[in-house]
Amino acid sequence: MSVLIKNGRVVTAVDDYRADVFVEGETVALIGHGLERGLEVAADRIIDATGKLLLPGGIDPHTHMELPFGGTESSDTFETGTRAAAFGGTTSIVDFAVQTRGASTIEGLDTWHAKAEGNAAIDYAFHMIVTDLPDERVPELRRLADEGVTSYKLFMAYPGVLLADDATIFRAMRKAGEDGTLVCMHAENGVVIDELVELALAAGQVEPKYHALTRPTRLEGEGVHRALAIAEVARAPVYIVHLSCHDALTELRRAQERGVMAHAETCLQYLLLDIGAYDEPGFDGAKYVMTPPLREKWNQDELWRGLQGRDLDVISSDHCPFNLREQKELGRGDFSRIPNGGPGVENRMSLIYHHGVNTGRIDVNRFVELTSTAAARIFGMFPRKGTIAVGSDADIVIFDPEREVTISRDDPHTHHMNVDYSAYEGFRVRGYPETVLSRGRVVVDKGEYVGRPGDGRFIKRGPYGGAHAAAAAANRGMPLF
Ligand code: URP
Ligand code: ZN
Ligand code: ZN
Repeated sequence: MSVLIKNGRVVTAVDDYRADVFVEGETVALIGHGLERGLEVAADRIIDATGKLLLPGGIDPHTHMELPFGGTESSDTFETGTRAAAFGGTTSIVDFAVQTRGASTIEGLDTWHAKAEGNAAIDYAFHMIVTDLPDERVPELRRLADEGVTSYKLFMAYPGVLLADDATIFRAMRKAGEDGTLVCMHAENGVVIDELVELALAAGQVEPKYHALTRPTRLEGEGVHRALAIAEVARAPVYIVHLSCHDALTELRRAQERGVMAHAETCLQYLLLDIGAYDEPGFDGAKYVMTPPLREKWNQDELWRGLQGRDLDVISSDHCPFNLREQKELGRGDFSRIPNGGPGVENRMSLIYHHGVNTGRIDVNRFVELTSTAAARIFGMFPRKGTIAVGSDADIVIFDPEREVTISRDDPHTHHMNVDYSAYEGFRVRGYPETVLSRGRVVVDKGEYVGRPGDGRFIKRGPYGGAHAAAAAANRGMPLF
């Protein structure tokens, strides 16, 4: 199958030019002008992209499909969640496989492969959530890397369930440093948070908003500070996930100033939603119970500044949906039982384009970098993913910068996620994906899904390739003593 996309405006993290793009099979074969005339073999399909942007497919490096959590499971399967992602212009996700405490990480990886294989609409990779790391399991991390899983998530939150102690974190970072892989940190002081949760519940404060009030920004800042200090001593790069507030950003900047190999992502919800959402009537505030929680609104400007100043590298969705009915309901009368997480994989590209590019906060190249290229580099997928270049996978979004859309759970054009609400209900955007190619195949055609479950393939990732790759390599194998 070959596709010629004519007259588009090709935008990458660094380029912005008009050209035709010829896709042959799964990759970009030619980029140039007047390709229609020059092509010896006619393309199977020609798409006129006049007036449209040609963007590298979005990469969302933080999703949770079918994640067991709090006695239930996130409501999007790999089939439904990746299809929704494709509608929204995302053509690759990095989801989180989970090691059951006391069991092998390799088993966890097998379980996640079984969930995704044959079901995904777009390409997918995995991080591994490491819940414990006794000495005998440390070699598994090398094996995971050989299998293309070159990043691990560790939690400083959820004591007794997911929390990894500081020794485990240090050990994992040392090993990641040696192997050329990357530790992703959920950085919050979960031990103190659990104390606050107990105090709130004992005082009868059970509504959803107490989820936010028991997770103060200082405790995220403390987690970020600690994670970065450990990474500094371990001489390893680190990636802070879902950074939500100015306190945490301040700690990130301080560490970066002293040369720590620190990366961080924020998520669209921290840029666009705020703590006031927990005051929605009745139990509706539960829709926004996620971790970290939504913050006071002034943090949003600080996060945008962090994106502009390149302190923050990536915007992900942390897509982890639970239905309001039956799932979030588990925590009616006790906010600590509300499953943590919210939906966003479908909305990320258009919301960030609208609130970032249309408002002038970021230019269109930075938009591509934040939603695609940076994740490809950091997580070992570049240049196969994250750009439009000859030889790269033909993951291309034909994006209409003028199309105006109102996001609503009730609009079948804007909501394909398997969840009974939209966190962005009523948000208006200008700029929306029209047609989406995943590895050369059209999967969304003028807003209609034309792909199949199983189109998506596992992405075997390479080593950490972010901005500190050279420094990380120089430290590799260097004994501490
Ligand atoms: O609330 C969230 N973010 N749920 C997903 C799990 C995590 O910590 O990323
Ligand atoms: Zn997390
Ligand atoms: Zn997450």
